[in-house]
Amino acid sequence: MLIRTPKDWALPESAVTPERDYDLRPRRDFLKTLGYGVAGLAGSALTSHSLLATTAGFPTRVNPDFRDPALKPTSYELITSYNNFYEFGTDKSEPKPNANKGWTTEPWTVEISGLINNPMKIDANDLVSKLGGAEQRVYRFRCVEAWSMVIPWDGFPLSKLIALADPKSEAKFVTFTTFNDPKNVPGQRRPVLDWPYFEGLRLDEANHDLSFIATGIYGKPIPNQNGAPLRLVVPWKYGFKYGKSIVKIDFVAKQPRNTWQAMAAQEYGFYANVNPTVDHPRWSQASERVIGGGGVLGSRQKTLMFNGYENQVAGLYTGMNLAKFY
Ligand code: MTE
Repeated sequence: MLIRTPKDWALPESAVTPERDYDLRPRRDFLKTLGYGVAGLAGSALTSHSLLATTAGFPTRVNPDFRDPALKPTSYELITSYNNFYEFGTDKSEPKPNANKGWTTEPWTVEISGLINNPMKIDANDLVSKLGGAEQRVYRFRCVEAWSMVIPWDGFPLSKLIALADPKSEAKFVTFTTFNDPKNVPGQRRPVLDWPYFEGLRLDEANHDLSFIATGIYGKPIPNQNGAPLRLVVPWKYGFKYGKSIVKIDFVAKQPRNTWQAMAAQEYGFYANVNPTVDHPRWSQASERVIGGGGVLGSRQKTLMFNGYENQVAGLYTGMNLAKFY
């Protein structure tokens, strides 16, 4: 039974219009606004190669608690062709072609390490099977660049992986290190970012019911350009928290620095909670462009506190100054 009372994070059905209305011309906004001047990042040296993604856990079961009928997903085509994945290029249109030649994501080993009782190195497919397979959840997605999508993710709750790892009491944060493969990924031979891309969460954030590791999109194994085979999903935070193609999950005592914070700490913090009242130093966060929302620039909608998940996650930040801890 999927007839449920719409949750308070629901988008109106009209918020997303068909794919045909969207203009896919590459944009350099993010790069431009960050002041980087990198062109042709992922070069043509990549060779042709057929790729497989993590396949365990498919077909997935829809989890009705995370499938609000009022949230209308962005098209598969847009989700998988309008990407930020700087290892494969800095234009939104580059990761799709560049991540699908010369770079394989199966087999894939992930290391789970640090202040835990059950450290392991495990194949991504085996991990999914061990955690009971995959489920599908539809979440809002909000990028710090002020655009948004709605994405049906397949995968597993991060809390299941944490339970398997069995953290010691000293563990307070979880870090996510993504792949480093400069031999096969030309973008990583250039100092665009401080490779490998790196992210972190407080342990209680990581254990929240909404935190998720995606292995698929729309019931299909996640494409390379979206972070195959394992990528973080934390829907109340800006998209840069969602580390792609994770190779190591480490439990630590101290708050780590994340990639974008290391690049520009005055602009990108550790928490990165979606917050319409705290602007980026160079642009407003009060509203967002809905990708696929119609028209050349897409339609705009107001940004919601914690991206619409305020009732679920505000308690994680009680008493914190969210303008200071951005
Ligand atoms: N992970 C890695 N390894 N490299 C990246 O450049 N970009 C981040 C995040 N994860 C990035 C990454 C940013 S800025 C965003 S907005 C999201 O991935 C984009 O995810 P998508 O391409 O699936 O929409």
